Amino acid sequence: MNKYLQDYLISPVTNYPLHFTNGTVEDLENGQLKGNDLLDVFSIVNGIPILLPHNHIADYNHNIMDILFKDRTAEISAEILLKTGYNSELYKEELNNYILTEFGKEGVFKIYEEYSKLSESQKLCWFATLDKDQKKDNKTQIPSSSLKDGLTRSTAETGKKRLEMTDEMIHKWACHLNDYANLVTQQKSGVIVELATGSGFGTCGVINSGLGNSTLISIDIDYAAAANAEGIAKYLKINDKVNPIVANFWYLPLKNNSIDTVCSHYGLDESREITHILAEISRVLKSGGKFINVSRKDPTLRIKQSFDLNFCEDEYVKLTHFAGFYSGMDDLKNEAEGYNLILDYCKEYTPNGSHERILSVFKKI
Ligand SMILES: C[S@@+](CC[C@H](N)C(=O)[O-])C[C@H]1O[C@@H](n2cnc3c(N)ncnc32)[C@H](O)[C@@H]1O
Repeated sequence: MNKYLQDYLISPVTNYPLHFTNGTVEDLENGQLKGNDLLDVFSIVNGIPILLPHNHIADYNHNIMDILFKDRTAEISAEILLKTGYNSELYKEELNNYILTEFGKEGVFKIYEEYSKLSESQKLCWFATLDKDQKKDNKTQIPSSSLKDGLTRSTAETGKKRLEMTDEMIHKWACHLNDYANLVTQQKSGVIVELATGSGFGTCGVINSGLGNSTLISIDIDYAAAANAEGIAKYLKINDKVNPIVANFWYLPLKNNSIDTVCSHYGLDESREITHILAEISRVLKSGGKFINVSRKDPTLRIKQSFDLNFCEDEYVKLTHFAGFYSGMDDLKNEAEGYNLILDYCKEYTPNGSHERILSVFKKI
């Protein structure tokens, strides 16, 4: 972890500024960040700060399924994966059957509707859990499987593969990536925050387009995903400019009005409680700062890709609203406006053999 990062960090629990407990090279790798409150103690694990509320787990969670299965999500997914021999088509079929048997079509609709009526604090609940073999020692928030994947992904060798895969993706489906990345790095100075490192395609695009004097903070709740940014930076020998962080978009551990650009390449699409995230983006952006986003044009695609119970189109749209998912460009524009993020630019892309997508730029006024 780069020492300068502490100038931007706040606690996701109390919002107090965070600082290193010591300044040695080893502490930057595996030390702690602390704030002014006893609650504010956060680990740095192999150079990546874990800045999550203490009851959150640094792992992927399936937002769509969470609403249905809550804390049984991981268990049910694992059960179906095993039953279907890790075959994605069979998995989807079996999941559809499982959902239909357990809730029925109307039951699913009702669960989503009931979720929409919960209070915000009830909605902002993260259901990922620790691995079974970690249960006895749950001092760390990272499941052992995610930690193991993270260690592999943070190597220069994996970083090289990520960059090669990104090149391949640009030719196959990511026809928008260079335009997105050029907009993100236009200033060549200041701090860029990326929401969702994920597989690192967006990260590679942004870095390839030339960071100049800017620095990049790449955020993901999944430790293994955040580690992709570390691997890419290691391969390109630009670790001094790239800062992976494990955090939840719901509680960005960043000071108010401190960031020049926030960008997201399919990060919003895969999140829940978008309105809350827009509020967080607006809070951390400086006045005049930009939010640059790529999302699927059709907001219902993601639910349909997870389970398909033959709802009609309107019903799928309703489900996205109930769940607080990205629900299309018009809604995003209106909701963003509520947080002083004004749509400045918008472009649609229609690649052969892949979904339509929208690149948009919002300016904080
Ligand atoms: C589709 S991936 C992002 C793709 C990535 N930008 C790329 O270009 O390869 C979505 C990521 O969002 C992360 N995510 C979803 N909801 C989140 C949240 N509330 N806070 C932090 N990360 C979240 C997931 O862990 C996942 O890695």
